[in-house]
Amino acid sequence: MATAVLEQGEDAFRKIFRLYRRKNPLADLSGVLEFRPGDSRLRSVALSADAVSDQDAGRVGLQPLRQWSAYHVDGYPGFLFIVNPFMPGWQHHWVRQCLKLYPQKPNVCNLDLHMSPDSTRDLWSSSHAKLRNKLSQKRNEKTLLEKLRWVTLGFHYNWDTKKYYKEHQSPFPVDLAELSHCVSLACGFPGFKAEAGILNYYHMDSSLGIHVDESELDHSSPLLSFSFGQSSIFLLGGLSRDVSPTPMMMHSGDIMVMSGASRLLYHAVPRILRHPGGGILPPCLSAPPSTDDPNQLCSPSDWEVCELYMQFSRINMTVRQVLEAGGSFPEEGDKMGKRMTQGDSYHSVDIETQEAEEQGLTKRIRTVTQD
Ligand code: OGA
Ligand code: MN
Repeated sequence: MATAVLEQGEDAFRKIFRLYRRKNPLADLSGVLEFRPGDSRLRSVALSADAVSDQDAGRVGLQPLRQWSAYHVDGYPGFLFIVNPFMPGWQHHWVRQCLKLYPQKPNVCNLDLHMSPDSTRDLWSSSHAKLRNKLSQKRNEKTLLEKLRWVTLGFHYNWDTKKYYKEHQSPFPVDLAELSHCVSLACGFPGFKAEAGILNYYHMDSSLGIHVDESELDHSSPLLSFSFGQSSIFLLGGLSRDVSPTPMMMHSGDIMVMSGASRLLYHAVPRILRHPGGGILPPCLSAPPSTDDPNQLCSPSDWEVCELYMQFSRINMTVRQVLEAGGSFPEEGDKMGKRMTQGDSYHSVDIETQEAEEQGLTKRIRTVTQD
């Protein structure tokens, strides 16, 4: 019986997903695309350097556009990869926002589905002392920050219905909208509006299942993705799961843009990997923010907590435009937006064993799971 399930559930994408998901032994990573000059599959992209002024880029922590390294990948028109364009110190700021600020109300997180509003009001405050003392603790109970799996911003994605609703939204964070605006301008999408965000929090055993982001009503707008912390393998496939995906390496600070013919491709994150280079954190995150920093990017005491968290974690922020320009939500009888999501079936916080996953027994298509 188990074999039948396995054979039925196996498609070209899943086969590669399982290969890279495997921990013992870890797959040979020599075929994983690294975004650096010299790989024949990559085309260097010259972004128009005056699309964003150096000053506007600097305000959100990005280097002047002429210093960015951006690539197209052969066979994936509309997919753009920007190798860490952040200025030193600024990734600290975005990591702190993801851990301290964005999980706060009125934004929504996975813990809200299981806990009272009071207990999820301030994950940072309830966790930071425990995280700091973790080594000296006898019981290894996870802090709420460590249990955080996702946060939604703007129009809150409903994991049950896989839709957005006009009734269920909160203000999109201004600084993240500015960062997104800057990146979308640089990539030739001046009309992009940051309307929804999904933040994913990964630990060393987490993965994100095979999926397509098709719930947004406007697919002509790009999807922006920002990665921080430990590295990961990203699989980019085709319009069907029968297309074998290309494995790509994502490191801290890297930005991906899925647009045009690549906007609706299947993709997944089968594995988180320690960043290359040996230290606890990637070099771009290892220097603590300077205390006399005029931008006040992240206080040393906040960074102490972020650093403890990030040594075993990766954070990914995706930003989406939901409605087409001037568009609105369709009139539907279905007013699910006001209701808090009941289930959590697509972005699971459940513990799933790798064994079950390898047998193809998990039916969920969009899960951040942990062994
Ligand atoms: C997503 C997604 C990729 C990543 O949230 O839809 O595909 O790198 N994230 O975490
Ligand atoms: Mn996605």
